[in-house]
Amino acid sequence: MAEHSEQARDARWSTVQYFEHKGFNFSPHFDKQKVENDALSTFQWRNGDVVVSGFPKSGTTWLCYLLRNMADFGIIYSGGRSEALILDWFLMDTHIRTDLRGQVTRQLQEGQLEIVSPRLIKTHLALPIFPLEQAKTKSVKVIHISRNPKDVAASSYHFYQSLFGGFYASSWEKTVDTFLSGRMLYGPWLQHVVQWKKLGPKDNVLQVTYEEMKTDLPLVIHKIGQFLSIQLSNDVVNKIALACSADEMKKCVHKYFIMDKGVLDDESKFIRKGVIGDWKNQFLVAQSERFDEEIERNLQENGIKFQYEPL
Ligand code: A3P
Repeated sequence: MAEHSEQARDARWSTVQYFEHKGFNFSPHFDKQKVENDALSTFQWRNGDVVVSGFPKSGTTWLCYLLRNMADFGIIYSGGRSEALILDWFLMDTHIRTDLRGQVTRQLQEGQLEIVSPRLIKTHLALPIFPLEQAKTKSVKVIHISRNPKDVAASSYHFYQSLFGGFYASSWEKTVDTFLSGRMLYGPWLQHVVQWKKLGPKDNVLQVTYEEMKTDLPLVIHKIGQFLSIQLSNDVVNKIALACSADEMKKCVHKYFIMDKGVLDDESKFIRKGVIGDWKNQFLVAQSERFDEEIERNLQENGIKFQYEPL
């Protein structure tokens, strides 16, 4: 029975029509014309905008929530929630999903014009799609978060089972193949991460990792504070770190999970495990070895090292 439903999921998954632009995959939720015409080149950046960028399931929501606790960002309110402005939605086809339409349309209308500065902007877009040069002209600051690929793959597998009623769901075996071949939403992960991680201070980009945040959150808060020129006492830093722990965040999902009701089957499970190394509960030895061979080696060649286990 389980096998049957896995097959059904994979059969359903294989019908999702991706298109490629500048080496990255876009799902049918994106408007091909907007993507191909670089619609983001006309996005109106403002001085003071802060961007959180990262591949999905790398801790982007956590980082946004942390930033909200650190500074007063202009935000969009939606049913009691506060939303970052989602840059990616400016490339979406607003007619494709009824469950997202209201939220996307509202963000497009209000996001550029009505929310006050400083704006918090979130994106999962790959670097060639992100309008970095335009952002730099307004001194926009970008914080890029990355996470070890095995935990990203395991987290994606679970998340996609319940997003949009399983629209992107596949079996675990298929998820491994997809992750490695790059044929996934926003993929390939490897190029996404390698390209973003080349950026640094001269591009107004700060690099953080999920694992660093898990290991010493106060240290990361200090680092971000310095980057954004926000003065924070040790006491305040410790309070923010506490408020942003997985346990505390589980109690207030409505504050940071920005998708409208129905987009995720059970939004209270958004923080699933929130740990380093849960991939070990998901991967077979052979699958882990494939990741080592096909991803880890390539990361090493690019001077990138991730932490796969808690210290
Ligand atoms: P897991 O599925 O491994 O638990 P994103 O927001 O980029 O989609 O990333 C989601 C991942 O970040 C999930 O990972 C989620 O649990 C984790 N996460 C969110 N808030 C967290 C927190 N306060 N502490 C640790 N992990 C957190």
